[in-house]
Amino acid sequence: MLSELSKRIEPSSTLAITAKAKQLKAEGKKVIGFGAGEPDFDTPDYIKQAAIEALKRGETKYTPAAGTLQLKKAIVQKFRKENNLTYGTDQITVNCGAKHSLFNIILCTVGPGDEVIIPSPYWVSYTEMVKAAGATPVIADCITRGTLKLTPGILSGRITERTKLLILNSPSNPTGVLYTREELEALGKIVLQHDFLVISDEIYEHLVYDGVFTSIAQISDELKERTIIVNGVSKAYSMTGWRIGYAAGDKQVIAACGKLQSHSTSNPTTFAQSGAVAALTSEEGPAAIERMRIEFGKRRDFVYNELSSISDLSVPRPEGAFYIFPNIERYLSDKVKSSFDFAEKILSEKLVALVPGEGFGAPGYVRISYATSMDDLAEGIGRFKAFLKEIKPA
Ligand SMILES: Cc1ncc(COP(=O)(O)O)c(C=O)c1O
Repeated sequence: MLSELSKRIEPSSTLAITAKAKQLKAEGKKVIGFGAGEPDFDTPDYIKQAAIEALKRGETKYTPAAGTLQLKKAIVQKFRKENNLTYGTDQITVNCGAKHSLFNIILCTVGPGDEVIIPSPYWVSYTEMVKAAGATPVIADCITRGTLKLTPGILSGRITERTKLLILNSPSNPTGVLYTREELEALGKIVLQHDFLVISDEIYEHLVYDGVFTSIAQISDELKERTIIVNGVSKAYSMTGWRIGYAAGDKQVIAACGKLQSHSTSNPTTFAQSGAVAALTSEEGPAAIERMRIEFGKRRDFVYNELSSISDLSVPRPEGAFYIFPNIERYLSDKVKSSFDFAEKILSEKLVALVPGEGFGAPGYVRISYATSMDDLAEGIGRFKAFLKEIKPA
């Protein structure tokens, strides 16, 4: 009954654990949710008001499939102001969330016979989207060499004549690592030597606590031409449920994405697009982002300090996003055999929901999202520590 495509795809491990945690909550249990990939803040009021006004004006009909001109102009302005990158509106596509942007681009750029390099640990959906397109995900292992970041050496080792695309994600989900300009320059040289495309997933651009965000498209015009940037309003403006993402890059790729979208979802929700215009253009935007960034930064410091003081836990310091990705290998034993087992047991025994590393291509790790209140963080980290004590191999 099922197609080959549907059999190739694995379910999202992030959503699975969140669903289980929700079920326990519904049963009245006090679950601490470290699983979710969304800010716990409400969408800022000025954005909600803009969408309400749009509804009142009657913005309830279809828009052009790849987004309104007004939103495309707001996105062009965002790239110019925030990233010093110039695009025309014909280089912008608006989609139903950044996940949808990624899906469209992957489907429009790769297919059977093509290879896509994905540095691990990676966001769970990249590999499955590539498989859905019939192409082959080629994992560039950045874990065993300890860097958790793609290096020129690792990248070069994965390139073949079939390499068509590289997916970069900075700041990263799940590790929170941020690529420096120098690191991107070094990777960019190899991209140009071998001439393949790059998707730069910049959805966490505004959530940076150490260092400065840089896009590989900012390195040179040649790299900008080969890069499709994916971004959106979900994380920066706490608008996950609004489902507005966008991409910028080569006109042909962008036009193909619009064509594909016109036969699938049609336009992203009309009044949500008006909310996104307000998010990106209002004078209130930078302050709203900064408030959330400061709060996330405090939580990052708290969680990092707590976890890095635990012996036998190796904790890469996250520089952005809202995740921390400790290595729990030294706590595995016959009792708790894998990260997956760890996540299941800590949820059932301590009511802490976190995501096992397997889905990110990183067995031996677990992902903790600190997009939750300080009180919940303190309580959850306390339970996490107690769990580690109980399972510690002798
Ligand atoms: C790395 C990464 N890219 C893209 C997305 C998708 O964002 P959106 O909610 O806009 O679809 C997420 C969401 O979790 C993410 O973590």
